[in-house]
Amino acid sequence: MSPARARRRRIRLGVLVSGGGTNLQSILDQCRLGKIDAEVAVVISNRPEAFALTRAQRAGVSTGVVSPKDFPDRERFDGRLVEVLREHRVDLVCLAGFMRLLTPGFIRAFPERILNIHPALLPAFPGLEVQRKAVEHGVRFSGCTVHVVDEGCDTGPIVIQAVVPVAPADTADTLAARILKQEHRIYPRAIQLFAEGRIAIEGRVVRVKRAAAKDRALVNPPLADPKRPRPRVKRAARSHKRTR
Ligand code: GRF
Repeated sequence: MSPARARRRRIRLGVLVSGGGTNLQSILDQCRLGKIDAEVAVVISNRPEAFALTRAQRAGVSTGVVSPKDFPDRERFDGRLVEVLREHRVDLVCLAGFMRLLTPGFIRAFPERILNIHPALLPAFPGLEVQRKAVEHGVRFSGCTVHVVDEGCDTGPIVIQAVVPVAPADTADTLAARILKQEHRIYPRAIQLFAEGRIAIEGRVVRVKRAAAKDRALVNPPLADPKRPRPRVKRAARSHKRTR
């Protein structure tokens, strides 16, 4: 870690999970390596069996389980989540495979300070099973999006996206795996942009301060066909040439 980065304040993350936690792992790894100015203060799951909790424990991070079964309604369930996040003095909430919609009360508790990662190029394919839907729809590109969470389902202002080509032989699983690799790259980057105070939200548009412009278009299938293999020169002809 550079001395300048070591001196910078590290923002405290609260990560909400429900499943395997590969995005959590990429965030933990980037924090440990000092690649982002952040530390995971707490990981909370709504499911006690989520493997993401094991990943957090292995990294020495506090964990909590808040089960919806223990609360009479969504508001009180979310209220408990807010309490735990506040106890850990969280600056930024990261949803990483958290399979629940947040109530307005939760969103008001962390205004413009909740991020989510979604495995499609929003606003296309919000919701669930989106990799399968992308393959079935026949799109040539899909990808992933980190966005600020608002009260809708996958509707909030977009921070960063990665475009992933869809191959003719793709299934939902192969596409999901290719997209997931990009999720692991863009989520830590979005967190770092937040930590550096470079995210400004204007209506539904996020301005990323000092971001380079991208101007190269992607085309799939590519405009150029693959090069045909060159016709093979006959051996006899080549040896004849050499003897001259
Ligand atoms: C990811 O595809 C994420 O985009 C979606 O749920 C999946 C979670 O994966 N919201 P993991 O638990 O981070 O491995």
